[in-house]
Amino acid sequence: MIVGFIEWKEHYETGLLGYDAQHKTLVRLANRIHECLDSQIPGSDLELGSVFGAFLEMTKTHVRTEDELMAWHHHDPAYGHEDAHRSFLEGLEAIADPAVDGFSHRERLGEILYKFKAHFEAKDEQAFLAMLRRHNLPGAG
Ligand SMILES: [Fe+2]
Ligand SMILES: [Fe+2]
Repeated sequence: MIVGFIEWKEHYETGLLGYDAQHKTLVRLANRIHECLDSQIPGSDLELGSVFGAFLEMTKTHVRTEDELMAWHHHDPAYGHEDAHRSFLEGLEAIADPAVDGFSHRERLGEILYKFKAHFEAKDEQAFLAMLRRHNLPGAG
């Protein structure tokens, strides 16, 4: 079980193992980033840089997977989910820091983290998860 900034809930599981694993990884990384942002411990900047890098890479992979899955399932494009992914990724790339000895966009990253939480917990993403769940886990309720 994952607890923290974003709490993992059983109904986030869709039965598509690779896709679920991407969400779990993103939630773990987001929780760790949140802890690092909160932390005054020396060295937390260094960890923040590497956790941010992992979050950025996982986000790139995940939006590609989710955009393809949504297209495959003819998910309602009126919600603009793909556009939300694109602008989220652009926001992350804008603060990607080439410095290896720290991370200098703490405030901006904090804002982006709340956007991630809002996107993941929003009606559109959750409706898609519920549809996949019904599709892949019949009888799961
Ligand atoms: Fe997602
Ligand atoms: Fe999404």
